[in-house]
Amino acid sequence: MSKNLENKVAIITGGSRGIGAASAKALAREGAHIVLVDLLECEETKQEIQDINPETRVLIYNIDIRERDQVEQVVNETARDFGRIDIIVNNAGTCSRLDLEHMNDEMWFRDINTNLRGTFLFSQAAIYPHMKNQGYGKIINISSISGIMGGPFSGKKDESGENGRSGPAYAASKGGVIAMTKWIAKEVGELGINCNSIAPGPVETAITKGMNYQLNQAIKRMGTPEDIAEAVVYLASSNSDYITGEVLKVCGGSAIG
Ligand SMILES: NC(=O)c1ccc[n+]([C@@H]2O[C@H](COP(=O)([O-])OP(=O)(O)OC[C@H]3O[C@@H](n4cnc5c(N)ncnc54)[C@H](O)[C@@H]3O)[C@@H](O)[C@H]2O)c1
Repeated sequence: MSKNLENKVAIITGGSRGIGAASAKALAREGAHIVLVDLLECEETKQEIQDINPETRVLIYNIDIRERDQVEQVVNETARDFGRIDIIVNNAGTCSRLDLEHMNDEMWFRDINTNLRGTFLFSQAAIYPHMKNQGYGKIINISSISGIMGGPFSGKKDESGENGRSGPAYAASKGGVIAMTKWIAKEVGELGINCNSIAPGPVETAITKGMNYQLNQAIKRMGTPEDIAEAVVYLASSNSDYITGEVLKVCGGSAIG
């Protein structure tokens, strides 16, 4: 089988589990070398990747993507070890379900700093100087339909304001990711770098555990991490070379229009 991404080097944030782990496995299946970044341990994901493609090199960095010096260390060491960085999947994320009435600064800054600032830090560090110097790069930012439509309706919230739909900090951070994706795409197209976003709808992972989605959508099931991972592969591959600044909704038709 021909591999689309033979010897490409991909950094995946939030690669321990969920959409990040599925994306890492799908990229490795296509021949990419993988750098897993997460607060959580990634050994199990690393093993699964190497079962899929024994030739893939896998590095693990347990860092906090909100910390500039840690992000720069990962990017610079990856460039030094592999000689290049081809793909960044800005996927790590957090989602407070506190509603507007109960939202506090701690949760606000956690979601904004992880989802939006983490994406900014990795994109900046990868592009300048590495992707710019090599004249090539694919940046894939995982946003959410929450950043487009303000959060889908889900189960009833309790009195604490938790357990409802994804909160206002999450929606704001993901809307920011979408706007930043478009900004970066305009800036770096002439450098040979594509920057796109994938906006998932409800996907079965730890973030949505226990939530009761109404599935008011065309395809009557939750998404799987693999549904999103295949879109990541597409946007990482040469098949999407003429696509940049776009937001690809992978949402079962929950946010059509
Ligand atoms: N599951 C869904 O329904 C859904 C829908 C839309 C968008 N998304 C987005 O997809 C992405 C992946 O989410 P998931 O559903 O796989 O959830 P998940 O919780 O399984 O994965 C998120 C990962 O990010 C890591 N992470 C969080 N903060 C971090 C930090 N500061 N530094 C390093 N790592 C950190 C977590 O440890 C975790 O492994 C997120 O950006 C999420 O917002 C998910």
